[in-house]
Formats: sequence, C-alpha cells, structure tokens
Amino acid sequence: MPDIERLLAEMTLAEKIGQLNMLAAGFTVTGPVLAGDITGGVREGRIGSVLNVFGVKAVHRLQLMAVEGTRLGIPLLFGFDVVHGQRTIFPVPLAEAAAMDPVLWERTAREAAMEAARDGVALTFAPMIDVSRDPRWGRIVEGPGEDPTVASLFAEAKVRGFQGRDLASPSAVGATAKHFVAYGAPAAGRDYASVDVSERTLHEVYLPPFEAAVKAGVVAVMPAFHDLAGEPMTAHGDLLDRWLRVRTGFDGVVISDYHAVAELIDHGVAADVAEAAALALKAGVDIDMMGYAYEAGLPKALDRGLVDMADVDRAVRRVLALKQRLGLFDAPYGRGTAALDEDHAAGVRALAREAARRSVVLLDNAAGVLPFPDTVRRIALVGPLGDAPYDMLGSWSAAGDGAEAVSILNGLRAAMPGSQVRFAAGVPIDGNDEAGIAAAIDLCRQADAVVLAIGEGANMSGEAASRSSLDLPGRQRALAEAVLDLGKPTVAVICAGRPLAVDWLVGRAGATLAAWFLGSEAGNAIADILTGAASPSGRLPLSWPRNLGQVPIFFAERTGGRPDDPADRFTSKYLDVPNTPLFPFGHGLTYGDVTIAGVDVERTEITADEAFDIVVDLRNEGRVAAEETVFLFARDLVASVARPAMDLKSIARCALAPGESGTVVFSLPARDLSFPGRDLRPVLEPGEFELMVGPSADRKRLIPTRVRVLGDRRSANG
Ligand code: NOJ
Repeated sequence: MPDIERLLAEMTLAEKIGQLNMLAAGFTVTGPVLAGDITGGVREGRIGSVLNVFGVKAVHRLQLMAVEGTRLGIPLLFGFDVVHGQRTIFPVPLAEAAAMDPVLWERTAREAAMEAARDGVALTFAPMIDVSRDPRWGRIVEGPGEDPTVASLFAEAKVRGFQGRDLASPSAVGATAKHFVAYGAPAAGRDYASVDVSERTLHEVYLPPFEAAVKAGVVAVMPAFHDLAGEPMTAHGDLLDRWLRVRTGFDGVVISDYHAVAELIDHGVAADVAEAAALALKAGVDIDMMGYAYEAGLPKALDRGLVDMADVDRAVRRVLALKQRLGLFDAPYGRGTAALDEDHAAGVRALAREAARRSVVLLDNAAGVLPFPDTVRRIALVGPLGDAPYDMLGSWSAAGDGAEAVSILNGLRAAMPGSQVRFAAGVPIDGNDEAGIAAAIDLCRQADAVVLAIGEGANMSGEAASRSSLDLPGRQRALAEAVLDLGKPTVAVICAGRPLAVDWLVGRAGATLAAWFLGSEAGNAIADILTGAASPSGRLPLSWPRNLGQVPIFFAERTGGRPDDPADRFTSKYLDVPNTPLFPFGHGLTYGDVTIAGVDVERTEITADEAFDIVVDLRNEGRVAAEETVFLFARDLVASVARPAMDLKSIARCALAPGESGTVVFSLPARDLSFPGRDLRPVLEPGEFELMVGPSADRKRLIPTRVRVLGDRRSANG
C-alpha cells in the first residue's frame, strides 16, 4: 500500500491532473473497443480513470499500461453505469422501488456488483437516487420515485449492496450517489433544464437520500448537469462542499457528470476553460469526466491564481485514497479474476425473476380476470411490447444483452405449455401505422383471453428522453380500443418508464398491470403473475396521474388554507378532474384480500428521546397467499411551518397465507417527527401528531390515530 503523501510529493503537475481526468473508451454491443487515443494518454499518465470499458481483457490490458508502463505505476479506476444490473439486468429502479423491500434492493445490487467486478469494473455510477414528481422527465425511470423516505431506504440498500462489507474485495464496487441534487425537478420536465426549488424543498425532499447514502458509506457523489436557481451543480460549493462534506461528513470523491465541467462555459458562469476548471475544483469536484477541462484548464487556472496547488493536491489525495480503499494499489487486476460459476449464474437469473415479479404492480383487477383460470386455453397476446425482448431491459442496461431477455411471448409460452399463445403486434410502438390492427383483432376473436402488451419503447425514457405527453405513443390507443370493444377478458400489461395517462383504459380492461421494464427475466415474471404462480405484491412508488395537467402530483402536498372541499367552489381543485391521482402512491393489489384488523399505539404520549410502538394487525381473508405492504404516515398538526398533509415515516411488509393473521410493529422514534425548521435546521416541535396507517396514500383507506410529543421545542440533533 503506497504512502499517499509520498506519492503526491513525487508527482508532476501533469501527473496530478491526470489523476483528476476520467475519459471514456467507446464500446459496441459486441464488446468494448479501445479508442486509440486513450491508450496514449494512459501511458503518459494523463488519464487516471476510465469509463465505459468493461470486460476483463480490455480492462486488464489498459491496467497493465498504467501499472507497468507509467512512471509512477498508479492503477486506473474503471467506472461504468451499472444502474440495474451488469450482464443480468434487474428491473429498472423505478420498478424495483415498487417492491418496497430494502433487502431485495440490496441483494440485486450485490449481484450486479459481483457481475460488474467480474468485468473489471471498480466503480459504478449508481445508485441514482433522484426523487422525482414529474413523469415527463425521462430519467424518472432510473430513480426510486416521488418519496424521500423510500429514496433514502433505496439509497442505503444500494450502497450497501454495491460496496459489500469490504470495498477492497474483488467482488465489491464503489457506489456513486447521483445526481446531486434536485435533478428530478427540471423546469417543464425537460432533461438538463434549470431547476428552481426552494431551500426548504431541497432540505425536505431532495437532500435526504444523499444524506442516507453518505451515512451508508458511499464513496462517490456525482453532481447533476443542471443549475439550481442559477448555480450549476458542478460549481455549487455551498452544496458540494459545505453541505455534503462539512455538514454531512462525506469523505469520498466527487465526480462530475459527463462533460459537465466544460459545460460551465455553456451555463454562462465561466468565460473559458480555465475559469470552468477553477470553479469546479474550488467547489469540490475532484474528477472531471470527459471534459478535458481539468487537463486544459487547470494549468492556466494555476498561472492566473484562480486555484492553487493545495486545491489540486486535495483532489488528487481523494482520488488516490479512493483507489486505495478499492484495493487497486494492492491488487490492480483483482477484479475480473474470479471465475464464473454456473450455479451462481443460475441463481442470479432466479433473483432477476424474483425481483421482476415483485416489481409488478397490479393496478386493477375489478373484473377478477387474474389470475387466469385453467379454462383459459387460447391466449391472444397483442401489442407492440408483446415480443420486444430488447425493450424489456429498459434504459441504461450496461452490458446486458437484449437477445437474452425473456419477452412476454416467450414467458407466457413457457409458463402455459398446455395452452395456445398467439401473438400479433397490431401496431408499432410509435408511428402511425395501423395496418396490423385487423389481424390482431382476428387473433383476439379466436381467444379465451387477451393480453394487451402496450406502452413505451426502452428508449422513450432515460437520459435525454423527456416527453411532453403521458399518452400511449403512436396508434396504440386505437389498437387497445379495438381490442376492448370485443368485450373479451383482457389484461392490459403496461411496459413503460413512467406512469402513462390511461384513465380511459382502466376499468374497460378486466385487469391492468404496471410492468415497467423488468429486465432479463421480464417475460417469465409477467407470466408468473398472469398464471397465478406468484401473487402480485408491488406497490406504486409514485402517484399515478390521471392526466398530464395534474403533474407534478405527489401525496406529500400541503393542504393550504383552502383544501379541496366538494361543497365549496373556492377551494383548491380543478374544474375538469379530481385532485386525486388515478392510483395513489403505495397502491397495488394482491390476489389475497388483506385487511387491517386494528391499529394500536402502545403509548400516546412520549418525550423527544422516546419512540412510539404502533402495532398493526392484519388478516388475509382471501383464498390466495399475499405479501402485504403497510405504510405509516404522519402529520404534524400545528407547527411553525405548514407541514405536508402526509409524510411517509416507515414501511413494513407481511406475508400472509390464506386465512392467516399477522402483526407488524412500527417503532417510530419521536425524532423522526422532526422537520427542517424556519432556519432549515432539523427541529422537533412538541405537540399533537396524526399517525396514519394503511395500504397506500389513499386517505380513505388510512386508519388515523393521534399521539403527542411532550416537552420543549428543540433541535433534533441536539
Ligand atoms: C451522463 C449521465 O447523466 C450519468 O448518469 C452517467 O453516469 C454518465 N453520463 C456516464 O455514463
């Protein structure tokens, strides 16, 4: 293990800047291709980290150049976007969030890390923990939804899963919490657009997941592309340094987003590359990803006195320390040496299938169409997502191969060998071609039941994929309506990276599933749900709007002074739609019938240092086993700042056999009822709180109870 200070003392300025420089080498779908120019840079010590190169051969070849071929032999750091799997692709994060299970989130991250590490990757640019309440934004698919509590649990679980117990182990990868911060609230839902949220919202909604990631030991943070009320995040010293490092205690590396340092010029806050480099470095950005801005700008910035050597050294120290923590000095070729064990690979596919089926949300089953009874022998699968294995992977599918993904068609055929499953796309995902509708309708006429596989293509969400409409693209609605007009038992399976405006569909289809993009095992998982081999258990991680006009829509709204009252026109409402979403946050049906038999708060008065135990009795009155999720919300009834009508505090799950009763116990420390006070410091204000327990954020289904926190108003940290 090197002595970092001694190493630093030996480094030339060019070598130091090299450590702050991360460059990509391109790759194709068949494997990585080394771009000619990066090998020269590696040999000269001008590149300290590389992104987008994976596969043992390619990684080790470059590593050899760095370790054996450069003056100081400092190993390279290989980073890659392992957002929801490396080779085996798990559900997109928005889907996996629906499982509401931190244990699952950690397990899938662990497996993704092991596959990535086997490919030589040492750092993932994940988890993406951007809370978002705007489904126009394409990147909502990459994050855990609308709620900061869910996002914080997700952040912790993913960091633990990626990093494992020992960061230096050849099966661990460092995690990067991104995109810091409030990237999920761009103006008009357009990717990369400016963000303007209040400081309060920043502290209540967008910062908490990052704090959770830091507490879980995340080794890297990536500032987002946008400007926050005029200050580009790549140069935001207040947040990157004072909040993240000083207040939260982050001690890792800050890595810019792709080309973001150079883009400070485009933002209009830097006149040239030297100023851009200086702004970012001073703000605390250690690594410049793909900007060439540190390489080109830092020498000039030093000359002009915009930065000094201590600023450069601080960043280099952090990068070297990260390489050390990842075990790269001791074992530069460590990742990639473990052999692939076939049993293990089969286990990963099984986990992908489990994660996928637990991510499916059964939105509606009013007609009781699901699960299919044995009498369903002839199935018509229609719609452009029915046989679309590549789309099943969703955005950022790393080294995943769509050819290995299970389509809905193949999943259904495998699960129903005694039945006939026939397929017709009917229409393409997008575009005006309706020529195939007639043939699809013919197929439906001959079937006992129809599976309507509709939605978006994988490339319609993700980075640079915002939409100004939440409608089904192309002519899919025409296809769906023609199918529904037949009056056959029909299940709508919606594959999409965001909630779509489908109020016209729900209720007309006998059942509707949110199937997002479920990854390599998508088709098998969907078949598990349709056939009843598994009971659905996913719950919406966001409010599902009725139409685009309701956006942004989220349950943690404040009531305002004129909360919606149907009897009073002059209250907050629309003329044309209810305020409520089509489906609330937390909504998701099972094949069981679970009811909350009782909610009991063991003590209704506690002091600020104590906790409330809330005991919830559940009973499955149905004939099928079910995994139920229970949410605990709270409202501070009178506070110095108006509080949201509902704040999510905790989530619990409970598996119940038919006829079985069970209990979940929430233990809620009084300090969890604190909030950013008027000075934005966390404060716990004594007084009465309403606690609400139920299966979703639908107020009509919540069981309320009141508790009181005793004592004086006090700072929650003190
Ligand atoms: C740009 C994306 O915003 C970021 O999430 C990603 O990690 C980098 N590109 C690298 O691929």
